[in-house]
Order: sequence, then C-alpha cells, then structure tokens
Amino acid sequence: MIDKITEILNNVNNFVFKKENNAASFRLLYLSKKGVITELLNEFKTIPNNEKKLVGAQLNILKQKVEEIYQHQTELEEKTNQSKNKHKDSTLPVYQEGPGSYHPLRIVEDRLLDIFFSLGFDLAEGPEIEDDKHNFSFLNFTKDHPARDMQDTFFIAEHVLRTHTSSVQIREMEKGKLPLRLVMPGRVYRNEAVSARSNCFFHQIEGLYIDKGVSFADLKQTLYYFVQQFFGEGTKVRFRSSYFPFTEPSAEMDIWAGLETEENRRLTKGTGWLEVLGCGMVHPNVLDACNINSLEYKGFAFGMGIDRITMLKYGINDIRDLFLNDKRLLFQFSGV
Ligand code: PHE
Repeated sequence: MIDKITEILNNVNNFVFKKENNAASFRLLYLSKKGVITELLNEFKTIPNNEKKLVGAQLNILKQKVEEIYQHQTELEEKTNQSKNKHKDSTLPVYQEGPGSYHPLRIVEDRLLDIFFSLGFDLAEGPEIEDDKHNFSFLNFTKDHPARDMQDTFFIAEHVLRTHTSSVQIREMEKGKLPLRLVMPGRVYRNEAVSARSNCFFHQIEGLYIDKGVSFADLKQTLYYFVQQFFGEGTKVRFRSSYFPFTEPSAEMDIWAGLETEENRRLTKGTGWLEVLGCGMVHPNVLDACNINSLEYKGFAFGMGIDRITMLKYGINDIRDLFLNDKRLLFQFSGV
C-alpha cells in the first residue's frame, strides 16, 4: 500500500490544472465520496494492525497535500473569475451617451437637396474616381487648357480623383434621355494645402437643367428661390461674371453675409459677400460632345460647396473640425 500511496502522491504533485481540469474536477477525483482518498481510507481498514502506523502517516501526508492543492487552486480560480466579472456588473446604471445625430454636412446637404426636389429636380450620383473624359475633356477642357490648373488634381495612374461634381453632368447627359433636371451631390478632391479654410477634399452639389428654351433668367430665378428658402427670405444675392470652360456665360453667386461679426468679416475677407457657387449656361461644346443638339437644347448648370455653407450656417471656424470624428461635434447637432 505504501507504494500505491507514493504513486498517487506523485500524480497529485504533477496534476496539471487546465480550463476543463479545474479545482472541481480535482476534488471529484481525490476528495469526493467515491474519490481516491476515500478508497484508500477503506483499504486502510483492511491492512494488518502492525502496518497501520507507517501507512497511516503516509496517508496523512497525501491527504494534507491533496487538500492544500485543492485549497490553493480554488482561491486562484476565484480570483480570476472576480477580475473577469469586474466590468460586467449588470446592475450598474447604463452610461448615457445621448441619442445619435446626423453630421452637420449631412443635415445641410439634405436640406439643400430637399429645396431642389421641391422644384422638380431628381437625384443622380457618379463615381469619385473618374477618367479624364468625364472630369475634363468632355467639359470642354482641352488637353493643355490653362483652366485645368484651376483645380489641382490628384492622379491615380490613368485616372483622377474628381475635382468637381461636374463630371456627373457628363455621365447623365451621355445617357441620352432628355429633358434633364438633376441635383448631383458628392465628395470632390483637390491637391491643395490644408488649412482652416480649405481641405484636400470637400463636398459639392451639382445642378443641371437641360430642355428646349432654358434661359439664364431660369438659372437666376432657380438660384434666387434656393437662397431665399435656405438662408431666409430677403437674403441679398449678387451675380459676378466669371469663367468656367463648360459654361458660357459663366457667373459666381455671392450671398450677403454681413460685416457685423468678427467671424463674418473673416469668412468674407472683409467684403461681407460670401461666394457660394459657380454657375452658367451649359457650353454648346459640352452638349455636342454628349450628342445633344445644341441648337435645339439649352441648359444651365451650377455647383455649390456644401462645406462652406455648413460652416457659415453653424459658425464652424475650421473646415478640419468637420472631419475630426469628434463625437462632441456631433452631439451639438442632435435634435437639429
Ligand atoms: N465645377 C465648378 C467648380 O467646381 C462649379 C460649376 C459647376 C460652375 C457648374 C459652373 C457650372 O468650381
């Protein structure tokens, strides 16, 4: 029996605890009613009296060792369970972050689009990675046209990151369905130095209306209506003549932001006027490139920057703040 006890003591000392071999299974094996120790105690009763002293002492050593190991392992497992459950107290109150909210750019874009939807414009979208044809050449930028420099372009091999949403005009005109009355929102990219006022990407809404007999007066009236709706009745606007290769005549539209606040003076560079969009009558070359008879059809187009309008509307001073992914910015717009 001594040999048996020595072997078991050996096993006990070498017992490896794992996930499935835990304190409970150790207890079951050695300390339960049907366990090894009970078995040995029963056997102990049957051995001759003169052996009892020696075997009994060995048995006691084994029993103490088993209990010691069991005790130690139980404590260890309790400790790990405690630390696991530390962050799982389901009775703690829920940490309230407040309701979700739309990004201010999304809020402004939705409002702008709604105004044009109410005038009968439909939605269209195009890809951000464009080819030269849609971003430039069909828009009447010839290969060495100096106006290509107006928009510092990111190139990706044979392609470009679109520098304006005017590329979507071409994609829609190419489809060959007329008349067209569309608003086309999206992100555009320019290789410009990043600062508080300009970013290497921003957002535009392009507008396009092509039909028989569309005039510059229609363009002005549409934009005038838009400004009154968005910026409020009585907002002053002015048109300045301008140049874009794809429109003729071309104009830029400013709204009167005023000179009252420091911020308005800064945003308008001390003039009080804020440029919000470029526009004009679609150039006949553009219509012809897209197989639209420029003698029969006329059109107007405009493109506005959403970021600048958003900054003006909400008094955001730095365009980069819009893209920090800082939840504190978003919380200011919950419920807007
Ligand atoms: N695409 C021009 C720009 O990004 C804006 C524009 C659009 C001008 C449509 C005229 C007509 O600056």
